[in-house]
Amino acid sequence: MLRLGLIGSPLGHSLSPWLHEKFMEQSGVSGQYELMELDPENFEREIELMKQKDLDGFNITVPFKREIIPYLDDIDERASYLGAVNTVVVQNGRWKGFNTDGAGYLESVRSIYPEVISESSRVLIIGSGGAARGIAFALSELNLTIDIANRTSGKALELIDDLPAKSRGGSLSLNEAAESLDDYDWVIQTTSVGMSPNEGIIPLEIRKIKEGAVFSDIVYKPLKTQFLKEAEGKGAHIHYGHLMLLYQAAYAFELWSDKKVEPLGLINEMEMKLE
Ligand code: ATR
Repeated sequence: MLRLGLIGSPLGHSLSPWLHEKFMEQSGVSGQYELMELDPENFEREIELMKQKDLDGFNITVPFKREIIPYLDDIDERASYLGAVNTVVVQNGRWKGFNTDGAGYLESVRSIYPEVISESSRVLIIGSGGAARGIAFALSELNLTIDIANRTSGKALELIDDLPAKSRGGSLSLNEAAESLDDYDWVIQTTSVGMSPNEGIIPLEIRKIKEGAVFSDIVYKPLKTQFLKEAEGKGAHIHYGHLMLLYQAAYAFELWSDKKVEPLGLINEMEMKLE
């Protein structure tokens, strides 16, 4: 019996309990997944109380992905490098932190557009926050070279500097990225621009694209962002944000249960829940 959960604040209508219950069903594991909204003002005390619960693992979402780190007994190399943890595995009372966001994103693309994951693909990431960082590191492990466009150029430069040398591409302004968008095989939108309730806005204009390019947005509310609508209008293959949510959850579940799950079959039902 797995005792799992999610900490964050606020948690609202999280899909995580539903996703993990589906994974449990699929893999024949019994258990429960509980939402635990913690008070950010009393985080230390809240964590002490959590330590007394007999959990097998839990997920971490905003605003605690960084805050959790001092309370871990151990941390996986990638999560440590990123400075952000979204999954904790509890074993013999010891907490070990992982970050499944980047690998989840990559796996979600692999399941739909495997051909774009190639060292010859030119990749542009829009944004330089935590999500961009997780994705950039996952891509760098496959030796892809990554250009980064961000509103604040200093943050794009910082992220590029932190990447392994082979993956360091250029830093661009959002305008420069709009000008050269048709150079890219794979464009990944990681900013919060266009997220509900600010639907209908887009971080940069999509004027021309490369034939066959994949355009990806990690925002999943709305399911089809303005960015994806416009990219599709120009003929791009589009990749939706909820797929990253689904696959990062699958990775977390595999860490807890040691069972491989198949997320693809959940996509339709997940879309209905998000619409
Ligand atoms: P997360 O951890 O979810 O990635 P974050 O760390 O707050 O979130 O990062 C948000 C990203 O969205 C940043 O790249 C941010 O750009 P800045 O570095 O210039 O702040 C980007 N972003 C947020 N609002 C934006 C807007 N209105 N226009 C352009 N970029 C925006």
